[in-house]
Amino acid sequence: MWHIFVLMSKKVLILGVNGFIGSSLAWKILQTTNWSVYGMDMSTNKIEHCLGHERFHFFEGDITINREWIEYHVRKCDVIVPLVAIATPSMYVTDPIRVYELDFEANVAIVKKCVQYKKRLVFPSTSEVYGMCDEKVFDELTSNFTLGPINKQRWIYSCIKQLLDRVIYAYGENNGLDYTIFRPFNFVGPKLDDIHEPKEGGSRVLTQFIHNVLQNRPIKLVDGGQQRRCFTFIDDAIDCLVKIIENPNGVASKRIFNIGNPNEDYSIAELADMVVELVKEYEEYREQAEKIEIVSVKSEDYYGKSYQDVSARVPSIDAARQYLGWEPRVTLKQALKLTLDFHLRNKDYELNEYHLR
Ligand code: UGA
Repeated sequence: MWHIFVLMSKKVLILGVNGFIGSSLAWKILQTTNWSVYGMDMSTNKIEHCLGHERFHFFEGDITINREWIEYHVRKCDVIVPLVAIATPSMYVTDPIRVYELDFEANVAIVKKCVQYKKRLVFPSTSEVYGMCDEKVFDELTSNFTLGPINKQRWIYSCIKQLLDRVIYAYGENNGLDYTIFRPFNFVGPKLDDIHEPKEGGSRVLTQFIHNVLQNRPIKLVDGGQQRRCFTFIDDAIDCLVKIIENPNGVASKRIFNIGNPNEDYSIAELADMVVELVKEYEEYREQAEKIEIVSVKSEDYYGKSYQDVSARVPSIDAARQYLGWEPRVTLKQALKLTLDFHLRNKDYELNEYHLR
């Protein structure tokens, strides 16, 4: 019996453990498994409830500096989840070199350590790799990647992640690397970005819209807001990630999984309307939500000339269904309500008072 327990227990290294995905993943692991989490990040504001847990080991550090700590922990742990990356579109156009250095150079070094020490790698790709693919549904193994020209710097992130996917795949084929690549499709939820972030474009669309309503500033629909996204609640996404890390009988090994919610496909204009309508349900914010203006702005004014957008992005999740038995369950409306409860009412669904299951 003891033997089985040892086999099942895992040491999971999460780099970027204080991020949106990392913090939720660490908490879920501590709550639902007997695994230990070794986490590194530069701050701790999203993992306060993990700190002090007997199976949570935190190190305050930077992946570009604390390389020895990382090497030691890659050797020590069973599964490596490197989540440090810049993933905000405004940064792709304003500071593409920083995106390249962190997202590519710093991460490829970690991939190589996993190859060297024969460790399982669970790596975040992105829905952005498909770029402006014109297929109705994006499939991990058959869809084309369609990116704009070099002067459209928005695609640097997509291109970096695509190359990392190809490098990891090649290490899998040629060097026996045990990996799973996952592609998040617009994960949303509490702690996505800092709601008080004052800089326009400095956060993902949902955080930006909530921020604008709270600050009595017009909601800006980039190029009219007809572009569509499939929104995935973080808790659903984390369930999928835990299954990938668990990896019973190697089902997730050497596979790529889209993690998204194809049923929750909305235009950005529809998202804006939903946010405003839902904020009206909070008595103390109703008046300002009623007055909020929704305006259209040109993408070149909002992001700059080197921005280009994706008009629609629907994931196939057949692979996650088939191999992991995973199905997203939370609608966008429920996700918005939980996110607003967190920001406007200080209710954290993760701390069980509000847990969905
Ligand atoms: C995001 C980011 O690249 C990554 O965070 C991530 O890898 C990926 O997609 C994902 O989560 O799947 P994007 O979907 O463009 O890219 O992210 P947002 O910044 O949330 O923008 C969504 C849409 O809203 C874009 O069309 C954008 O132009 C629009 N938008 C954004 C507005 O209309 N108004 C705003 O104030 C902000």
